[in-house]
Amino acid sequence: MIEENAVPTPVDKDVLITDDWRVSGRIYREASIFERELRRIYGRTWVFVAHESEIPVGGDYKTAYIGRQPVIVSRVADTGAINVMFNRCRHRGSAVCQREFGNTSFFRCAYHGWTYGAEGQLVGVPFDDGYPEAFDKSAMGLTHVPRVEVYRGFVFASLDPAIVGLPEYLGNARRYLDFIADVGSGGPELASRAQKVVYRGNWKLQIENTIDPYHFSFTHKSWLDILKDRTGTSSPWVKNVRTNPDWRGMDLGNGHAVHEYGPLERAGENAHAIGIGELIPFNLNVFPSLAFVGAHLRLVVPRAVDETHVYLYPILPRGADAETRNRILRDHEIFYGPSGFGSTDDVEVGFDRVTNGLEASASPNDWALMSRGLHREVVEPGTGIRIGRSSDEVPQRAYLRRWLELMEVEDGC
Ligand code: FES
Ligand SMILES: [Fe+2]
Repeated sequence: MIEENAVPTPVDKDVLITDDWRVSGRIYREASIFERELRRIYGRTWVFVAHESEIPVGGDYKTAYIGRQPVIVSRVADTGAINVMFNRCRHRGSAVCQREFGNTSFFRCAYHGWTYGAEGQLVGVPFDDGYPEAFDKSAMGLTHVPRVEVYRGFVFASLDPAIVGLPEYLGNARRYLDFIADVGSGGPELASRAQKVVYRGNWKLQIENTIDPYHFSFTHKSWLDILKDRTGTSSPWVKNVRTNPDWRGMDLGNGHAVHEYGPLERAGENAHAIGIGELIPFNLNVFPSLAFVGAHLRLVVPRAVDETHVYLYPILPRGADAETRNRILRDHEIFYGPSGFGSTDDVEVGFDRVTNGLEASASPNDWALMSRGLHREVVEPGTGIRIGRSSDEVPQRAYLRRWLELMEVEDGC
């Protein structure tokens, strides 16, 4: 008889992450945990909603999400200030703005025609004699999200009025955001807009996959084979992951994580040679849902416990010549595009198959193992930054550590 593998120690079914870094399959699967995440994670953090370059002139707007809550991010024509407002009509709740971006002086709800000015003020109610004289239009504008701050062009909003300031929240991740903010001769531009990927699976699978050099040579083997055919040489990926001391994953604190392909000071020398535009010499996760990889900004939007939308924005350095911008876009298409070789691998292997496998919930081993490299990670004196080797699961533990802290704090529901 084949004996069932036993879990190392019996664990209460309510434990979501064990001390030895086993992670319950429930956190990827259960709708009630997802609903709790929306309140306790997305309700309490700074969530990236836009880069200033997406709404460069007055009247520009884009739609976005904080967790599952739809918002409009707009730039005021006169002052240039940025508003983030709930995309929810004050009449009966319809999402007012349907377009992903545009330029306008008003937003009109398609349901019964209520019209709002660019800053959300209610300016028109059809047949308004249906309301008493005391009906106060000035109190019925689109509701503004309680906190909005911009860090070097990156616009974040928070549902938590009492959250710490954005610079403090970003903490050690600021150093890396600063690097991105300084690309080219005037910072990044998201002028090409986003490529959108929708997958069947939990949002955290994409976060875990974004900084995961361990998977690359397996999941993306066909890509590395193509590169070899093109260039005549094998990619140094595996060698670097296994032995290059400059390739290291780090827990930056507050849920943020980075994988460096070399010290930032030597960024120019450390192109990581995977064939994708190497504008940024690191992968960065900004908790909970913003990431940077190679030459793009990646925004993860949870839509349901098993449905995730991912927006991939190629980063075009402001001031770069047409050839450089063109190369970044073509590189992006080759790896991430709909007929590219990268996103499709991750969606199939990293998300769809994992989602399928995790359905084996009757197994007493309903645990994902997130302990790789735990025995050899080093805590940097002074900063508290945890540093591990390239293939270790330090970045995954970074976000899960913060995830668990927030999930354990009651929210009254
Ligand atoms: S729901 Fe918007 S006008 Fe009625
Ligand atoms: Fe991948």
